[in-house]
Amino acid sequence: MPEKTPVIIGCDHAACDMKEKVKEYLEEQGITVEDAGTSGEESVDYPDFGIKVASAVSNGTFKRGILLCGTGLGMSMVANRFSNVRAALCSDIFSVAMSRQHNDSNLLVLGGRVIGETLAMELVKVWLETEFEGGRHQSRLDKFNGLGETV
Ligand code: RB5
Repeated sequence: MPEKTPVIIGCDHAACDMKEKVKEYLEEQGITVEDAGTSGEESVDYPDFGIKVASAVSNGTFKRGILLCGTGLGMSMVANRFSNVRAALCSDIFSVAMSRQHNDSNLLVLGGRVIGETLAMELVKVWLETEFEGGRHQSRLDKFNGLGETV
């Protein structure tokens, strides 16, 4: 059963097309999507959009976020500076499933210049459908969850 939790999504100019596809996919699943930008091909700075999405997840406005840039690296660096954000840059199905089962990832990062759209959609699907296992994994998360910037 896909999770229906609203998702905030953001990208830079390197991954706008992929962001639109992901948005379309989420909306088809009945998931409400908040688009934090950017839109279009004009060159922008990825931290501006990464901060918008990561801060909304950090302060609990959204439980889930998705960020995309060319490689996904810049966005994941930005996002993981925020308290309570567990951003996972994924490009394979095993890692994205584990990012939920063991790390309770609440922010998925995709590299629009690294992976294709079909794989991106599959990663989003698995990320939404896979449950956190809790238990020993929760106590590990408790050791670092509060670290980072609070917003
Ligand atoms: C933009 O050219 C590119 O640097 C950005 O999308 C991202 O890959 C940064 O990590």
